[in-house]
Amino acid sequence: MSKLYKVAIIGFGNVGQGFTKILANKYELLNERFGVDIRIVAVCDLYKGSIADPDGLDPTMLISSIELDGDLKNMDAKYTGWTAKETIANSGANILIELAYTDLKTGEPALSHVKQALNNGMHVSMTNKGPVALAFPELRDIASKNNVQIGIEGTVMSGTPSLHLGNEMLLAAGIIQIQGILNGTTNYILGEMEAGLDYQVALIQAQALGYAEADPTGDVDGHDAAAKTVILANLFMDLELTLADIDCTGISQITSEDIAKASAQNKHWKLIGTVAKTKTGFIATVKPEMVNKDHPLASISGATNAITYSTELLGDITLIGPGAGRIETGYAVIEDILTIHKNS
Ligand code: HSE
Repeated sequence: MSKLYKVAIIGFGNVGQGFTKILANKYELLNERFGVDIRIVAVCDLYKGSIADPDGLDPTMLISSIELDGDLKNMDAKYTGWTAKETIANSGANILIELAYTDLKTGEPALSHVKQALNNGMHVSMTNKGPVALAFPELRDIASKNNVQIGIEGTVMSGTPSLHLGNEMLLAAGIIQIQGILNGTTNYILGEMEAGLDYQVALIQAQALGYAEADPTGDVDGHDAAAKTVILANLFMDLELTLADIDCTGISQITSEDIAKASAQNKHWKLIGTVAKTKTGFIATVKPEMVNKDHPLASISGATNAITYSTELLGDITLIGPGAGRIETGYAVIEDILTIHKNS
């Protein structure tokens, strides 16, 4: 007998659509192999429309509607026009999938959505870095008081299971340092500059390929990687950092001459996020580094991400995989739901 999970999606951009596509294709597998019956009971998007049906909305129809009309306004549904707040309160969902716009300064509006859902006794899955980087300890407390779970796999390396690996497998091995290429846009730009492209042209390409955030400043200034570094530090190193604790430098000052200098020395520029405990405290940085070709992160190219966990018992473990993308990040939500199911 499968367990029914009614999900409400707030924000129906790339990730929401990726998740819905996966559900359209993998519903049977998830049901039969994992015992989870996932039904989308509401979708709420500021621009594409807001629809709800407690019996479930057909994932295939949701995708067709977006492909045909660019929105959900022509789709038949029992309820329409709910705000995010009304969706969380009235949809009858037991999981909120929070995918609204990431604001790294306030975490809003996602932070309020997540608090409302947790206080309503709903589990939450989010790929939104803002609330996690800014308020995770508080959210974890609210979740625990309400006996519900928060899934955040998609906040770091999209569906590549970096957080599950750290949390479930490596924490007991003693994580002493984490280093990663945590932003695909900047890694792509640095690679293209190595191949001879101008910085601005490479940035425009990264935007066209959908790697960059809506406002790419967060990518190139290193703030996206810094938010991910905060998440890793707080989850795995018993720290309580905020973005202000990260010594952060982006890639916008890297010139073609810098790139040529590295190539002449057989080295690569990489934007690396590092967090490590020291005798006196901690180091937490995001900065461009010129790495030797034999560095574990030197060969990571394009928009691919990678993370190296340095542990007491196993030494270094490096995980390489996608860090962005519609399906790739949508899959992180599936991982969160499977984890919520396993731990329920
Ligand atoms: N803009 C981000 C990146 C997307 O380039 O990695 C995933 O957080």
